[in-house]
Amino acid sequence: MPREPMIAPSLLSADFARLADEVARVADADWLHVDVMDAHFVPNLTLGLPVVEAIQRVSPVPLDCHLMIEDPERWAPGYAEAGARNVTVHAEACRDARAVARHIRAAGALAGLAIKPGTPLEGHLDVLRDFDTLLVMSVEPGFGGQSFIADVLPKVQEARRLVDSGELTLLVEIDGGINADTIEQAAEAGVDMFVAGSAVYGADDPAKAIAALRARAAAAMRE
Ligand code: DX5
Ligand code: ZN
Repeated sequence: MPREPMIAPSLLSADFARLADEVARVADADWLHVDVMDAHFVPNLTLGLPVVEAIQRVSPVPLDCHLMIEDPERWAPGYAEAGARNVTVHAEACRDARAVARHIRAAGALAGLAIKPGTPLEGHLDVLRDFDTLLVMSVEPGFGGQSFIADVLPKVQEARRLVDSGELTLLVEIDGGINADTIEQAAEAGVDMFVAGSAVYGADDPAKAIAALRARAAAAMRE
């Protein structure tokens, strides 16, 4: 069965003064990726739970909350309670990733584990059994508009192999530098869900950009 590519526009590249309109412009997306940054885990600061709750009220698309924050144990369940479809925490920030996954799931969301470009997959294979999504970062977390780091693709290939062999049950997601030039290599490596910020919101027509990315990824997956 061929996999179907899914696209998650990242709201980080949207106009924050017009969030409801910006959400409506990507109604064709599979998930809406929302980057929560705390200026501690990453050098940047974005938005938090009250804004996510407001986005949730107007979004026609399920929310994919990417928490780039310290102390995810404390904050992650709140995003699930707010109605997010998926809540992703960083492996590097978790003291007990398994417990965080349990709490996110108990609050009604899928649980995601993110790894930075320099973080190997190996040490996390066991805890990944308790997660629903694996987010492979293909830029250093913190800012949109950075260049894709292709060196992370072996981690995607390894995750794909473990999913296809039935050892793990995960959606494989990639985040950072995904655009028309890079999405094919990510698709070939085995990604299911593609986060794209500047490639979607930097386009004149975000809906068209989503369709074009999806078509490119689908073609690469069929090869
Ligand atoms: C970066 C964020 C990404 C970012 C991606 O830390 O996690 O989601 O918005 O932006 P682009 O697609 O422009 O690299
Ligand atoms: Zn992100």
